Amino acid sequence: MKVPALSHEVAATSGDGAPRGELWRGDNLGVLGALGHDLEGQIKCVYLDPPYNIRSGNQHYADRRGHQQWLDFMEARLRAIKPLLSPEGLICVQIDDAEMAYLQILMDEVFGRANRVNTITVKMSELSGVKMTHVDRRLPKIKESLLIYGGGGDVRIHAPRVLKTGEKFERYLKYYGKMIVDPTAPVEAWEIVSIREYLKRAGEAADSDSVRAFKLKEAHRVVYRTNSKLMSSITSDRALKEVVSPTGIRYVWWEGKEMLFLKDHMHETLGDLWTDISTINLNKEGGAEFVNGKKPEALLARVIEMCSEPGDLILDAFAGSGTTGAVAHKLGRDWIMIESGEHCETHIAPRLRAVVGGVDGAAESKDRPSSVRGGGFAGFALADGESASAC
Ligand SMILES: C[S@@+](CC[C@H](N)C(=O)[O-])C[C@H]1O[C@@H](n2cnc3c(N)ncnc32)[C@H](O)[C@@H]1O
Repeated sequence: MKVPALSHEVAATSGDGAPRGELWRGDNLGVLGALGHDLEGQIKCVYLDPPYNIRSGNQHYADRRGHQQWLDFMEARLRAIKPLLSPEGLICVQIDDAEMAYLQILMDEVFGRANRVNTITVKMSELSGVKMTHVDRRLPKIKESLLIYGGGGDVRIHAPRVLKTGEKFERYLKYYGKMIVDPTAPVEAWEIVSIREYLKRAGEAADSDSVRAFKLKEAHRVVYRTNSKLMSSITSDRALKEVVSPTGIRYVWWEGKEMLFLKDHMHETLGDLWTDISTINLNKEGGAEFVNGKKPEALLARVIEMCSEPGDLILDAFAGSGTTGAVAHKLGRDWIMIESGEHCETHIAPRLRAVVGGVDGAAESKDRPSSVRGGGFAGFALADGESASAC
């Protein structure tokens, strides 16, 4: 049954390929069962953030089940999701220590132990305030886990890469003092100048912080030169020269040395320990107030980018305040979210309307100027005895 209050018409300006969403209000087991007919093998990335069974919850949802009851609840939903997952797809379930070990064994059974991809530890809070109250009895809990399984086929992930941090990187950054004024010109004609001088000439601030910020922003034209055997064997009557290696790799020869571009040396690949995502002041991120349980858009962006490509279909069957759909939409993915609580109307639909209209102002979009807008979503609910396929 279509629910206009949960929908947002596709914007007239949206081109083909703009993201589309489906927002379902109801118990996820019923909705998943009904969706199964149409969606078999279609979903590329499932993200689940179920109640952790720790008696937390908030005014919108309860989190109180017996251990066995919680496991049965999860098993039914994981088994309903499995046929919808593409063989090349990934499912990622977030959980804390209370049920983590049991959930992992359950997921081994449902998805196959051989399809375990990673168990990521993610820092989810700060060591402060109330966390420190019982520090004489047990260490404060600041981590959660992401259990990731593949759909059984040839699964590939995009390993996340992040900006390097720390003193070592700051020292390395200092080597890069020069820049190319116009990198679109032919290499031989490049004018190389000091960054500080360039900023001064342009009448801009040239203190250390401004220079550092410029380097990171303009990293594609910030350069340094280093010794290289290949380059030292080449001569030229010019200061710069483009050199292509026998294997087709393009280098820039710079007075007998190799030119390095900062953009190629400022990121590192992450392992399975994520401690860099801020969890402070999330309550109103995306304009949706939702105390407890809400996840950072930056975390969802990392999971979605790791597990899918633009245009893929993303599912979240425990939508909460709608973080997954909001981020999926902005990253150009189609999405399905299911939520049983009334915050489907009060939180998720308005949040997604703001995303479609480009006015959500969430932190995730701050560093993502290419963030996708437009598109639209349709809202549904299962009527008594109705099947979802009609929608
Ligand atoms: C921890 S919250 C999810 C928070 C979400 N990741 C976010 O960032 O806002 C869990 C959500 O699952 C919903 N939920 C619990 N049981 C459900 C069920 N059987 N069907 C659909 N939604 C359910 C709750 O109402 C709650 O909103």
